Amino acid sequence: MISIPKGTKDVLPEQSHLWQFIEDTARGVAVSFNLREIRTPVFEHTELFLRGVGETTDVVTKEMYTFEDKGGRSITLKPEGTAGVARSFIENGLQNSALPLKSYYITPCYRYERPQKGRLREFHQFGIEMFGSAQPEADAEVIFAAHTFLDKLGIKGARLEINSIGCKTCRAEYNKALKEYFRPHLGEMCATCNERFEKNPLRIIDCKEEGCKKFTANAPEILYYLCPDCKRHFEKVQSCLKALNIKFTVNSNIVRGLDYYTRTVFEFVSTEVGTQGTLCGGGRYDGLIEELGGGSVPAIGFAAGLERLLLAGVTALDAPVPEIYLGGMDEISRLKAFEIVNGLRSNGIAAECDLMGRSVKAQFKYADKTGARFTAIIGGSELESGECNIKRMSDGKTYSVAFSDIYNFLANNK
Ligand code: HAM
Repeated sequence: MISIPKGTKDVLPEQSHLWQFIEDTARGVAVSFNLREIRTPVFEHTELFLRGVGETTDVVTKEMYTFEDKGGRSITLKPEGTAGVARSFIENGLQNSALPLKSYYITPCYRYERPQKGRLREFHQFGIEMFGSAQPEADAEVIFAAHTFLDKLGIKGARLEINSIGCKTCRAEYNKALKEYFRPHLGEMCATCNERFEKNPLRIIDCKEEGCKKFTANAPEILYYLCPDCKRHFEKVQSCLKALNIKFTVNSNIVRGLDYYTRTVFEFVSTEVGTQGTLCGGGRYDGLIEELGGGSVPAIGFAAGLERLLLAGVTALDAPVPEIYLGGMDEISRLKAFEIVNGLRSNGIAAECDLMGRSVKAQFKYADKTGARFTAIIGGSELESGECNIKRMSDGKTYSVAFSDIYNFLANNK
């Protein structure tokens, strides 16, 4: 037997209603926030992620699914949604549309990670990207969209942590301070940290190695190095969040794992999921469009991992069930049931009948398994009278209904 690749998962028929609920909720939130869907390819030129996500990130250095296609091009399966959307924004001249341009996507992503609970090699994101506004209100709106989404999914107890990692100007000062602080400890720190020390010292804060954590824990905090503009921006984001009644904490250790961020960064973290508790992460990326060859366009967004939302306890309605199971006692009655059931279906009523040639007893058993709200079995006398006894499964009450009235009966007994 050929098994599923490591780090991937099937969504089986009995789970798919949960996925549909998450996706429908995402689309509903998108409508409320006036976001339009954008769909970009699952694969892009590798260079997009090298330049967009950043050459010192774990995602790019260790986790990309990169291959050469038959034309000799280096292609990568998208490890995240933002870079592709940014590429599309530039390529399609969307900076000329009415700004801010507010988009969303639901997409599979691919990262070659060590699989564990909440961490997969193929996973799915619902993401929002907003282009064109540098206002702190835009940051708060995007954070509020994420908050609304989690709330509508019934996820309780996700805490919001925010930080500002400043702009180019304050980052230069901060990087200097980080270098001064880490330099004496480099001999005791991992090879990746040593490499990041030269290329991108901010990334060191993100190191998960136990031996490095004792140094990163006491590293200088970015918030003390913010320039006046970034400081003001961050304060305004916080007052907007307070106005929206969203609880948050400022956590200066949130630097995010991707290089394009500037100013506000944030995460919603659940205590239910274990070590992979970050349900959703995002932030501002005011330099990305320019970095990828577009104009100077500020932007902000987030993405939530759908698999993690499921682990965090999405409370969805039960799986959909047929309104009625209509069985038949013999071949002629079964044909009548088949005809009625398919008539109901073409009028939008979920209905089920026998396709297995089951005995009456087995049909009742199967009807029960389907969870149908009503059941009826047609036999010779029902064919003669043109009506049948429909039983409501929740309380056993029966109703005598003419075949021609079954649609109205079900439509009125929702
Ligand atoms: P990210 O933090 O790398 O950000 O991923 C966002 C979310 O995707 C995570 O919070 C997590 O829920 C989920 N996720 C990430 N990796 C995995 C994995 N291996 N298995 C399962 N779930 C995973 C981004 O991707 C940015 N593009 C977000 C963004 C949009 N920033 C601005 N706009």
